[in-house]
Amino acid sequence: MAKYQAPKGVSEYYPGRSMYFDYVRSCIIESAQSAGYQLMELPIFEDTELFARGVGESTDVVRKEMYTFEDRGGRSLTLRPEGTAGVMRAVIEHNLDRGQLPVKVFYSGAFFRAERPQAGRYRQFYQVGIEAIGLADPRIDVEVIAVADRAFKELGLTRYQLEITSLGDLLTRENYLKELRAYIETIPLDEETRARAALNPLRLFDDKRSEIKKLMSQAPLLMDYLTVQSAEDFEKVKELLIKLGIDFVVNNRMVRGLDYYTGTAFEFVHSELGAQSGIGGGGRYDGLMAQLGGQELSGIGFGLGLDRILLACEAEGIAMPEGFELDLYIVPLGTGDEALIIAEELRGRGLRVDLAFGDKALKGGMKSADRSGAKYSAVLGADELSSGSIQLKEMQTGVMSSVTLSALANELIERISNFGDFS
Ligand code: HAM
Repeated sequence: MAKYQAPKGVSEYYPGRSMYFDYVRSCIIESAQSAGYQLMELPIFEDTELFARGVGESTDVVRKEMYTFEDRGGRSLTLRPEGTAGVMRAVIEHNLDRGQLPVKVFYSGAFFRAERPQAGRYRQFYQVGIEAIGLADPRIDVEVIAVADRAFKELGLTRYQLEITSLGDLLTRENYLKELRAYIETIPLDEETRARAALNPLRLFDDKRSEIKKLMSQAPLLMDYLTVQSAEDFEKVKELLIKLGIDFVVNNRMVRGLDYYTGTAFEFVHSELGAQSGIGGGGRYDGLMAQLGGQELSGIGFGLGLDRILLACEAEGIAMPEGFELDLYIVPLGTGDEALIIAEELRGRGLRVDLAFGDKALKGGMKSADRSGAKYSAVLGADELSSGSIQLKEMQTGVMSSVTLSALANELIERISNFGDFS
C-alpha cells in the first residue's frame, strides 16, 4: 500500500482516464461558449456566511456538509460546496449587473461536500456550471437547459431524462408554504424532523424514510398554487422545449438540494448510475441576488457533475477520443541531444512531439513509440544526422517514407492537417 493516499472520498483523474474527463469537460464548455457564456474563475473558498445565506440554513449542504475552517486571521471560510452563490457574490461585487443583461458566465472546477462517499458521490467533485443573471425570461430558462442537453447529445449520451418542474415565484411560494405548513402541523413527526420542516417545509419531500414519504404523498402540491405569471412562464418553457425537440417529463415532487430556487427547476437523471443518478441540475433563483445584498434581479443556471457524466459515458460504452495524441515520437540513438533540440523546434511549430529518454536501445525505444500512441515515429541516430534525412514511420500502417530534417516540420504539419483530427 502506498504510504500516502488521497483523502477519503475525493475523485481524481490521471493519465489513462484523464483525457476522457478533459473531453467531457470541454464538450460542456464548448456548448456554453456557443451560446455566449464567458469564463468566470472564482475562489475555491469564500466567507462561510455567503453559503449559509445563499445556499440556505435548512439544506443538508449547509447543515452538515461544508468544509469550514478558520484562517490565520480568525475569519470563517468554507470550501465552495457549489458555484452559484460565489458567482452571485462576484456579479454584485464587480457591478456586472449594471451592464448588459443577462450576465452570462460559465465556470468549471472542484467543489466540496462532506458527504458519505459512494460510487458517483464524492467529497471533492467537479462541475461545469453556467449562470444567466439579470432577466426573468422563460426563453433563457430554455436556453440554459438546451446548453446542457446539447452537450449531453454531443457526448453521445442517450440514456438520460430531463425532469422539470416550476417552484413558482415568491408569491406562489408564500401562499403554498402557508398551506404546506398547515398540513405538516397535522402529521406526526419526531422533534428533529419538525425542526427541519420549520426551517424549510419543502425539505420533507426529500426525506428518504418510507413513513415520511407516505405522509408527504398526501401533502398539497406547489404546482397547484402557481400564480398566473408562473403558470404562463412554465407553459412557455414546456412549449419551447417541445419546439427544440428536447424530451422532458414534469416531476411535481422534485426537491432541489439548495434553497434558492424559484420558478423553473430541472434535473438530468441518468438511468445507469444507480443511486447517484443526477448528472446535472439547476433552476431559476428570483431572490438570491437581493438576499446577498444586490438588486432584485432574477437569474438561472445549472451545475453539471463531470464525475457522474464520465461514469454515464462509460456505462453507455461511448467511445471517446483520446484527446491528447502525439504527432511524432522520436527514438534517439546516442546521446539524444539533437533529438531534444529537434523536438523543441517542432513543438515551437505547434506539433505534439515526445521522445525516448534514458539511453534506451533501439528495441526499447520502438516499444515506447508504439505505446505512445503517436501518429508517426522516427529514429534519429548518427546516420540520419549526417545524411540530414530520416525515415518517418506512419504508426497505423507501418508505411515508411524518407523526409529531410529541414522539411520535417512542414511535412508533418501538412500530413497532420489531412489526418482527420479530433481536437
Ligand atoms: P446540485 O444539484 O447540488 O446543484 O449539483 C449539481 C450536480 O453536481 C449534481 O446533479 C451532480 O451531478 C453533481 N454533484 C453534486 N454533489 C456531488 C457529489 N458529492 N459527488 C459527485 N457529484 C456531485 C448545484 O450545485 C447548483 N449550484 C446548480 C445551479 C447552478 N443551480 C443554478 N445554477
